[in-house]
Amino acid sequence: MSLADLIARFDPADPAFVADPYPVLNDLREATPIFWNANTEQWTLTRFTDVFETLRDRRLGRSYSHLYSHAQVGRTGPDPRWAAFQQHERWSLLCLEPPDHTRIRRLVAKVFTPKAVAALRPAVQGFADELLDACREKGSFELLADYAQPYSVAVICSMLGVPRADTQLLLDWSHAIVKMYELATTDDVRAAANTAAAEYIEYTKALIADKRRNPDGLLVSELVQVEDEGDRLTDDEIISTTMVLLEAGHEATVNTLGNGMRAVLRHEGEWQRVVSGEVPARVAVEEMLRWDPPLHLFERWVLEDGVEIAGQRMEVGQEVAMLFGAAQRDPRRFNDPDRFDVARGDVAHIGFGGGIHFCVGAPLARQEIEVSVAGLALRFPELAVAVEPEYHPNFVIRGLTALHLNG
Ligand code: HEM
Repeated sequence: MSLADLIARFDPADPAFVADPYPVLNDLREATPIFWNANTEQWTLTRFTDVFETLRDRRLGRSYSHLYSHAQVGRTGPDPRWAAFQQHERWSLLCLEPPDHTRIRRLVAKVFTPKAVAALRPAVQGFADELLDACREKGSFELLADYAQPYSVAVICSMLGVPRADTQLLLDWSHAIVKMYELATTDDVRAAANTAAAEYIEYTKALIADKRRNPDGLLVSELVQVEDEGDRLTDDEIISTTMVLLEAGHEATVNTLGNGMRAVLRHEGEWQRVVSGEVPARVAVEEMLRWDPPLHLFERWVLEDGVEIAGQRMEVGQEVAMLFGAAQRDPRRFNDPDRFDVARGDVAHIGFGGGIHFCVGAPLARQEIEVSVAGLALRFPELAVAVEPEYHPNFVIRGLTALHLNG
């Protein structure tokens, strides 16, 4: 098959491709380290080393607006119809580069330390136990709706200091907003994301005002109070920061559990290795993140002329896309990469990114998934898939619609 034909098979709008993108991703990676995606106008990287290095390359960034105007890089500005969406992510860590990124990340890190995450463990364990006990009572359950979603949102809300009664509201907003990050979206989807962002902004403004009056030592309250050499976060910065923590912290964790438990259960004998204790849950988590990752594509802007990646010279304002699903199965980096080996335990994958945008929530995510896998193994030694699951028709955020299990 010609390279052009192969590239044509990389079609996020094609349900068959999205259902199982790995054959196409593998073929593309073996055919070329880089290709031009004419639909998205992006140089697209397929191999582990190039993705690994690009994540760390300071000549590229998640944003260009700290250096160039839209006109200077030959782009049109943001669509004014989606102003609330743009406002909600304006100060998100994922939209910033130094010096703003350094300043806000330092402040966030202060209230997001590994120590704070460890202190959360009993609460995380408590949420897992409560929900998994209820699943055991039912016998058959749906992992995502009955467990992973309420669990991960309870964890992040308890960390942020958001009332648990509001979790459904937050979930609905988050689900609507993250659809904006897909490669192909419709105006209806964009409008829904924009409305959700507007509602979320109003909600968070009220939350911040409440925390100012009644500080509770939890994350939003701490962000309101935090001081770093006299620096403080503005309300707009707090709005973006809490939303990115909720969005990033919730969807990826749920999808890792869904994709990962599907993977471990469909490979004969692998669940037994976890149940027997041969493979600690902490180790199993890493293979779940590698083999069927919840996030498949990240982008960077070229900020300097003359950048060369995988032999391709690029100019300022060009965009690079990194295919995590292709890179995580690169045989140049992983031995027998298509094999799901629950004991592989390779922690140096790129599932949490790398460089200055490395996932600030990685210790929390690892802890959440570990506690879940251990809790499932303890209660359900004979766990089995009840109904063959299906994936949402999205490429970038990869997750199951449901995972029905028999306990
Ligand atoms: C299994 C679950 C998770 C996965 C796979 C994941 C993955 C990632 C990746 C790949 C990045 C880097 C993006 C880039 O370089 O362009 C990232 C950044 C980020 N993640 Fe996570 N994440 C997870 C869970 C979490 C959790 C639980 C939180 C917070 C509670 C979180 C908060 C963030 C934030 C705030 C950033 C942006 C950091 C920055 O730009 O400095 N993530 N995540």
